[in-house]
Amino acid sequence: MELKGRTAVVTGAAGGIGRAIAVSLARRGCHLALADINDAGLAETLALIAKPGLRVTHHHLDVADRDAVAAFPEIVQATHLGVDLLINNAGVALGGTFEQVSEEDFEWLFEINFWGVVRLTRAFLPALRASDDACIVNLSSIYGNIAPPGQTAYSASKFAVRGFSNALRHEGDVTLTANTALYSSTKNRVSRKISDLAGAKASLVGLFNGYTQLM
Ligand SMILES: NC(=O)c1ccc[n+]([C@@H]2O[C@H](COP(=O)([O-])OP(=O)(O)OC[C@H]3O[C@@H](n4cnc5c(N)ncnc54)[C@H](O)[C@@H]3O)[C@@H](O)[C@H]2O)c1
Repeated sequence: MELKGRTAVVTGAAGGIGRAIAVSLARRGCHLALADINDAGLAETLALIAKPGLRVTHHHLDVADRDAVAAFPEIVQATHLGVDLLINNAGVALGGTFEQVSEEDFEWLFEINFWGVVRLTRAFLPALRASDDACIVNLSSIYGNIAPPGQTAYSASKFAVRGFSNALRHEGDVTLTANTALYSSTKNRVSRKISDLAGAKASLVGLFNGYTQLM
C-alpha cells in the first residue's frame, strides 16, 4: 500500500506503539487523525510529527464511549478528505487471576480492547469502503495466541480481537483488508512480529519499525 497522501486514523496515539505508528506514518507522507484520552500525550506526539504539507488532526476520544465513536468519522471527515487506514491500537492491560479480577474491571477492559475495535471498525466502514485501497489494522498481542495465568481478561480480549479481525478479513473484498498485529512484548524486540498478513498489505510491516526507533 502506498501510504503517501493517504489518511490514517490511529487510536491510542498519545504514547507507546500508537505514537510510533503515527510518527512512522507521517514519515511516509500519510495524513493523520490521532485519537486518545490523554490530551497531553497527544500534544507530545504532534510535536514529534510537525511536517509541512501533512494534514494532522488530534481528537480527544474514549474508544469505550459508544456515542463518541459513532460520531467520530464525521468529525474526522470534516477536515480530512477521506479515510484509508484505520489502526485500532488503543488498549489497556489488567493482571490478576480470574477470581481476583472483578466483573466490572473485566467489562472495562473489554469495552476498550474489544468493543472499541468493533465499534470503530463499524463506524469507519463506509469511509473505508469509499477508498480505493483501504486497510484496517487491529492490535492484538501474543496473548491473543497464548493464554498464561493471570491474563484472563486481557488474553480473552486479544483472542477476541484476533478472531474478529480474521473473520472480517475473510469477509473482505479487494479494497478492504483487516489485519491483526500481534506483538509479544515491546521489550522483546526479537520476537516482535505481525502476523495474519496473508493477502494483505505487507508493506504495513514497515510502520512498526518506527517503534524501536523511539524506544
Ligand atoms: N507494549 C507491548 O508489549 C504490547 C504487547 C502486545 C500488544 N500490545 C497492544 O498494543 C496496543 C498499544 O500498546 P502500548 O504498549 O503502546 O500501550 P500504552 O499504554 O503505551 O498506550 C496505549 C494508549 O492507549 C490510550 N488509551 C487507553 N485507553 C483508551 C481509551 N479508552 N480510549 C482512547 N485511548 C485510550 C492510552 O492513553 C495510551 O496512549 C494495545 O492494544 C496493547 O494491548 C502491546
